[in-house]
Order: sequence, then C-alpha cells, then structure tokens
Amino acid sequence: MRVLLAGGAGYVGTHTAIALLEAGHEPVMLDDLSNTSRVVTERVAEITGTSVPLVVGDAADDEIIESVFDEHGPFEAIIHFAALKAVGESVERPLDYYANNLDTTYALLRVGLAKGIRSFVFSSTGTVYSDPADLPFTEEATRDLVELSNPYSKSKLMNETVLADVQNAHPELNVTLLRYFNPVGAHESGLVGEDPKGVPNNLMPFVARVAVGVLPEVGVFGDDYDTPDGTGQRDYIHVVDLAEGHVKALENAHPGLVAYNLGTGNPVSVLELITSFEKAVGRELPKAMKPRRAGDLAATYCTPIKAERALGWKATRTIDDMTRDVWNWQQKNPGGYEG
Ligand code: UD1
Repeated sequence: MRVLLAGGAGYVGTHTAIALLEAGHEPVMLDDLSNTSRVVTERVAEITGTSVPLVVGDAADDEIIESVFDEHGPFEAIIHFAALKAVGESVERPLDYYANNLDTTYALLRVGLAKGIRSFVFSSTGTVYSDPADLPFTEEATRDLVELSNPYSKSKLMNETVLADVQNAHPELNVTLLRYFNPVGAHESGLVGEDPKGVPNNLMPFVARVAVGVLPEVGVFGDDYDTPDGTGQRDYIHVVDLAEGHVKALENAHPGLVAYNLGTGNPVSVLELITSFEKAVGRELPKAMKPRRAGDLAATYCTPIKAERALGWKATRTIDDMTRDVWNWQQKNPGGYEG
C-alpha cells in the first residue's frame, strides 16, 4: 500500500516508515523538518535497505500536498503525524497550536478526498482522557473539550470531532484515531530515536541526557502521589510497538470511524523507569526529589484490549527494552541527528 506520512520524518513517523517498509508497503514522507532532520532518510535506508522519499514542505499547504500526490501518488492512505506537541508551550501559544494542528488536517483531508484516498489514520493522544475515576482508560472515557487542561490536548480532540464529521459525510472513508500513551524507546539499531530540541520536557529523554552527562541530575516531580512508590505512573510504550500498531491499523481499516488506545496497559512509575535506565547504563544516576509539576496526574494508563481484539496488535516490549534502546540510541548519537 502506498501511504503518505504527513510529519513522517518525526519520531513516531520515522519508526512507522520503517515498520511499513518492513511489511512491504510504500511510505512517502512529507515534513517541514521543523522538529527533525533530513538525516532520518539515510538512517531509514541503512536499516531497511530501501530509500523513503521525503518531500520538505508544509502539510497545511494544499498545493504542496497536491504536488506530493502528483509526484509520488496515488496514495491509498494518509497517516497524519504532523503536529506541534509540547503541552506547556501550547498554553503559551494557543493560536499556533490550534492553527497548525487543525489546518494540517483540513488540507490533508481536502486534497486526500479529492484524490480518492481510502484511509486516514490520525495521531491522537491519551490526554483526551483525564479523569482518574476512569482508570484504566477505555476508548469511551474521552472528556468534554472544556475539561481538558491545555490547547494541545484540545486541538487533538477537536481533530477527532472534525474527522467524525468528515467521515459521516464520506461514509466510504476509513478513519482510525490512534490514541498514543507515552511513546519512548528507539529502533534497536540505535540509528533512529527521539531527538528533542533543547532541554527535554519528557522524562525518558531527560534521563537519557543525564546518563550521557549532558544534564546534571534527574528531578523526580513529586513523591507523595497516591501510587505504590509515591511517584507518577505512566503507560510507556516502545515506539517500535507503536509503529507496528499503525501498520496493523492501516491493514485492518474499514469504512467508518474507530478509535484505539495504543499503550501497554502497564503503569510504570518515575522511579521504576529510572531504575530500569540505571540497569541499562550499569550505574546509579544522580537524581533529586522535586515538587509536583503543575497539571500532572498521579497515574495515566489504558486498556489496549480493543486494539488487540480488532487489529491483532499488542505491545510486546518491556520497560527494560525501552530504556536499553534509548541508551543505545543516546550513546550512538549524543548530539542527536545533527550532532
Ligand atoms: C506528556 C504530555 C503528553 C504527551 C507525552 C509524550 C503532559 C501533561 N502530557 O505526558 O501530552 O503525549 O508527554 O510522551 O505534559 N517527570 C519527572 N521528571 C522530569 C520529567 C517528568 O519526574 O524531568 C515525571 C512527570 O511528573 C510524570 C512522568 O515523569 O509523572 C512522565 O512525564 P512526561 O514524560 O513529561 O510525560 P507526561 O506528562 O505523561
């Protein structure tokens, strides 16, 4: 299947391109490279022995999308990864988040429908849930827009609504919403991985930079939560499992709209993640207890059973696999792709 990956050169998109190539599909990347590097295409070629075309451009620009269809199509499907994704930043820059995260969807749908795509897969988020009473989160536990705490999560839920209405108007279209939990890890080759710009906001890349000596210590944001060890629990999912979920979602798409949680279903605490990373590195890492981070929930994790039943997909990689692969990636690329 020929698939257009909008935002395809990013962290999840690159791993999905590899999984698609390995399953015999033909991905093409469209990416503005605002948060990644051209180098990923060389790395994908090194891993798979196949080169993936990359068009550099804005996924909110109809003319650019049309030119990608004309040059590399026809595409049977679009996977839409292109988005701004920093929760804190979205509170400071709401207009950028709403404009970018929705305009891309409008443009991809306008052109995609005109060109006859059959499937549209959307990168959504587990932050469309937020009520601890609903744990573990099922696909039915989405909140109302006003209950979500930040423009990033709201922009994702708004996209889900847009897609539901568009699917309703185009009953033959297959729409799949993939709600990611906390993607971490890297390809086992260490050739591709997460390459956040500046000081990372998220726990795993932060720990990796402490381990490699770029940052002095890990701050543990709160040890007085109502969790087994007092630190926050999350549903970390290996990015290669997540990528394989996209392949299964495409291969099992059917007319209608369906949402799937992509997570492991296993809550892992901040201290458990750090301990696992220390095992991978073979030494203790400097860490310090810090106050809770504003807006954090004590625990978020899903039940992924719907995806398992409908797609025959299940995350198989453990937290030790995730930390081992991040450490391998970080050691091989201490300065990221451009380093
Ligand atoms: C965040 C985003 C979410 C996004 C996900 C990507 C929020 C509210 N949500 O989730 O939209 O999909 O990243 O993986 O920002 N922690 C520390 N020290 C650190 C950093 C984090 O103790 O230096 C703790 C946090 O308090 C939390 C856990 O580690 O308990 C995970 O944090 P993080 O990796 O930032 O992910 P989320 O906040 O769950």
